[in-house]
Formats: sequence, structure tokens, C-alpha cells
Amino acid sequence: MNGADLFLRASVLEERNGFDAARETYELADERVYSAEVRLARDEALDRVVELVGAGDGTVVDVATGRGTLLERLLRATRRPLVATDVSETVLARVRARIGMARVEYVVADARALPFDDGSIPTLVSHVGLANVPDAARLLRELRRVGRELVTTHVFYPEDDAENLRAAGEHGLEGLLSRSDAVGAFDETGWQVEVDHEREVLAEPTPVSELIPGVGIDALPVAATRVTWCVLVAR
Ligand SMILES: C[S@@+](CC[C@H](N)C(=O)[O-])C[C@H]1O[C@@H](n2cnc3c(N)ncnc32)[C@H](O)[C@@H]1O
Repeated sequence: MNGADLFLRASVLEERNGFDAARETYELADERVYSAEVRLARDEALDRVVELVGAGDGTVVDVATGRGTLLERLLRATRRPLVATDVSETVLARVRARIGMARVEYVVADARALPFDDGSIPTLVSHVGLANVPDAARLLRELRRVGRELVTTHVFYPEDDAENLRAAGEHGLEGLLSRSDAVGAFDETGWQVEVDHEREVLAEPTPVSELIPGVGIDALPVAATRVTWCVLVAR
């Protein structure tokens, strides 16, 4: 079974029997979807976010929580109160069933219109969430409005990677893809951003399902390319 189908199988197992029943299948899917160097670069970036956030105080809001990869690590490795946010109620409900509500609040919200007061969030975090939200300028303005700092894993594509930049543009997701566009977008929305912990790796298109035509894992890359996994720290 290829990585996409294993991932689908894991999702069904999770839906039917809970996350523990699906954990091993998710791990195997991850190994088949991503190369060892991509997984290492990603996991190191996640560890770096946890290290930076663990040193601070106050509430941490996770933007575009998705499957909760970062949320789960923050819960394990820090003592800070956590708020998980995602535009999808279904996605958040699944994470809540797995992680529980002991130190985590769940808020269904569009990251471009968050239900938080100005300057009220000590730390915003995300794990590759920002690149999944269309209209980078609106997103970063809203995060600037509510947050005092932002620490996120991110992936830069080469400046001249026309094929992948065009594919991202079809979904309105081109705004943060190249380093120059991302740094420019942060600057223009009032953030001072630093790029931390850079790791360049070969990224290849993720597999598509053989069982359900048209179902895949990641929309990008559409063509193999050298990307830079990193952590963005903005204040
Ligand atoms: C690839 S996941 C991010 C991975 C995740 N942060 C993790 O730690 O596993 C992308 C998520 O972005 C969410 N998303 C897309 N558009 C959004 C928006 N406008 N506001 C908030 N979340 C959004 C999707 O629902 C999806 O769950």
C-alpha cells in the first residue's frame, strides 16, 4: 500500500477506534510519504519551535492546528496554557478526541479573523499552517493585531521555482512561498522576522491514492525541488 492509502487507512482506523488504534499506521504512512531527510528537517524544526516556546510565559495559540502535530508536542514539553484553532470544526474535534481538554482550549476560527482582543496573545505558533491560508497579507495583519510574537515552522521554495509557485498561485497560496516574498510580507504587515534553523532538503511530490482516484496528501510540491525547512520567529 502506498503512503497516501496508508494515510487513508489510518484516518479510517482513527475515526472508528480512536487514535491509539491508528498510531502505527500513521507512522508507517509518514515513512512512505516523506523521505528520511524531509522527516528529519521537519522534526528538527518542530523541536526548535517547542524549545523557543517552552522558554516563554502565558497562553500559546496554535494557528491552523490541523492534525495537532505541534500542539501535541507543546502539551508534552511545555507547561503553558494552549489554544488550538482551525477553520475546520471536524479537524479540531478529532484532535480534541485524541488530546483532550485538560490544558487545551479549542476555538473554531479563520486565522484571518480571530476572536481575540488586540495584543492579547503572548505567543502565536504554527506548524506549516500559515502557508495553507490564502491571502498572506490579511493573515499576517490579523496575527500582528492579536499576537506579541509568532514562532512557526515554514518551508521556503526556490525563488525561480516557476512550476511550484504557479501551482501554489492556483490556490492563492503563493504569498509566503519564496523567502523574499515571505520576508517582504512580514515586513509590510508590521512584523520583524528572523529565519532560524534552516535545513535544505529535496522535496518530491507526495503520492496519490491508488484506491480513491484524486485523493492525495500535500498539494505541493507538484515537481521535485530543493526546499528549505526553517523556523520563522517574528516580533
Ligand atoms: C497542513 S495542516 C497544518 C498542520 C498542523 N499545524 C499540524 O501541526 O499538524 C493545514 C490546516 O490549515 C487549516 N486551514 C486552512 N485554511 C485556514 C484558515 N483560513 N484559517 C484557519 N485554518 C485554516 C486546515 O483546516 C488544515 O487543518
